[in-house]
Amino acid sequence: MEVLEAIASRRSIRKFLSTPVPHLLLEKILEAGTLAPSGKNAQPWDFTVLEGPAKERLLMVLEQAVAGFSEQGRPTGSAPYTIESLRQAPACIVVYNWRGNPQADHNGLHRYGFLVDVQSIGAAIQNMLLAAVELGLGSLWICDVLYAEREIAILLNRKEELVAVIAIGYAAEEPLARPRKSWREMTKWEGNAW
Ligand SMILES: Cc1cc2nc3c(=O)[nH]c(=O)nc-3n(C[C@H](O)[C@H](O)[C@H](O)COP(=O)(O)O)c2cc1C
Repeated sequence: MEVLEAIASRRSIRKFLSTPVPHLLLEKILEAGTLAPSGKNAQPWDFTVLEGPAKERLLMVLEQAVAGFSEQGRPTGSAPYTIESLRQAPACIVVYNWRGNPQADHNGLHRYGFLVDVQSIGAAIQNMLLAAVELGLGSLWICDVLYAEREIAILLNRKEELVAVIAIGYAAEEPLARPRKSWREMTKWEGNAW
């Protein structure tokens, strides 16, 4: 029941207090991530926690990359707003797929392995978001960092595949639930279930 409550009460938090997040809580969140299921138990995730100046450097390369997109007249979607949320969060967790190669062609056999690993990492991220709820913390799952995929690779000296960043901190807002399609609309029952 408590898990269902955490699932129902989780929100994407985009405004954070500056209060630092105790490392003990970050450790619990990271452990929750590693308890996720993964294809063949490959555990394809790894995590880098950034705070203070390290987080500022990430923010700087992201801002520069997004500004570069704008200058070229390319769409930047929600990225400018995401940057403001990430700026407020006292900590963030960079999530990599250590089995992933950003140069790889994700077709054919590669596609199967890629999909399995990305699902596994999605499960780890969701575990971390739910752990944050339990610990009284807010979080934001961020993929807009992919605008700066190459720049972040250089910054963190990584050759593997960047998946996402999770911004974490104490929430400074209580957003209403975003709308959802009902499970009835999205589900077919077949056979003799009823
Ligand atoms: C894979 C993924 C990527 C996301 N990337 C971003 C992002 O870059 N910036 C952002 O503000 N929100 C991001 N979100 C949050 C979604 O916008 C949010 O989950 C959705 O609007 C539903 O709102 P809720 O999380 O409050 O239920 C992302 C969520 C997921 C699952």
